[in-house]
Amino acid sequence: MRVRVLGSAAGGGIPQWNCACTGCAAARRSGAHRTQDGVAVTGDGTAWYLVNASPDLRLQLLSAGDLDPGPGRRDTPIRGVLLTTAEIDHTAGLLGLREAARLDLYATGTVLAALPFIPMLRHYTDVRAHELRVGEPLALDGGLTVRASVVGSKVPRYAPRDEPGAWVTALRIADERTGRSFVYATCLPAWTDTFDAFLAGADAALLDGTFSTDDEPALAAGLTRTPREMGHLPIAGALPALRRHPGVRFLFGHLNNTNPYAGGPAPVEVARDGQELLL
Ligand code: MLT
Ligand code: MN
Ligand code: ZN
Repeated sequence: MRVRVLGSAAGGGIPQWNCACTGCAAARRSGAHRTQDGVAVTGDGTAWYLVNASPDLRLQLLSAGDLDPGPGRRDTPIRGVLLTTAEIDHTAGLLGLREAARLDLYATGTVLAALPFIPMLRHYTDVRAHELRVGEPLALDGGLTVRASVVGSKVPRYAPRDEPGAWVTALRIADERTGRSFVYATCLPAWTDTFDAFLAGADAALLDGTFSTDDEPALAAGLTRTPREMGHLPIAGALPALRRHPGVRFLFGHLNNTNPYAGGPAPVEVARDGQELLL
């Protein structure tokens, strides 16, 4: 299985277009940009699945040679898009896929029902919405299977408040031929026993690296809400749990522009745009 990191930043990216903070200014100077969170996964090198579709998707696809179209004029190796939230930073890129002959989307019923882009896209392409039923493995092309676990209930700001449901999921993608598996959990409000069991035995995991510590939003941006209240366990909060899984390669993605690890040294592996994992 191959996993390509398409983007490693939280909503807005780094630098964010209207942000003059220290981290964004430094990224603007150095040119070390991070696009918004998402990966592409393949089992056989031919059939690829996107995990999330960020607003930066078009440029992410153009810079990943393996995702080029062909040999037919409208052939594409992209077989579908798996969505882990209904947030704008994970879904607005779907609009950029409207030229597809057909668009297969995989998400929980909650996310599929909420996404305003799906009814819009139906006017442009043949949208096939597949419900990811929590805990039930679903077979994908190229020998992959995917399983979802609900990790959070944060409702996107555009959706009606307090609507309970399977809003935020982690995915475990397995290559049935090699037995290798990859866990994607870039929005993880807490490390629960359920998540610990979901992750156990994976070969690699891309985790929530939005914030470095609990006090980062307060110190860097004067915010009163904590990372956990924003649906993001900080990296420091995940560290003790990592030690229980010595066989897993952990990477952190979805970095916010306040996170000092986005542009400086970090005590963990921070995912980079364009990075590829071979599992
Ligand atoms: C999040 O990751 O918490 C959301 O994407 C925040 C947002 O952009 O509204
Ligand atoms: Mn986000
Ligand atoms: Zn900034």
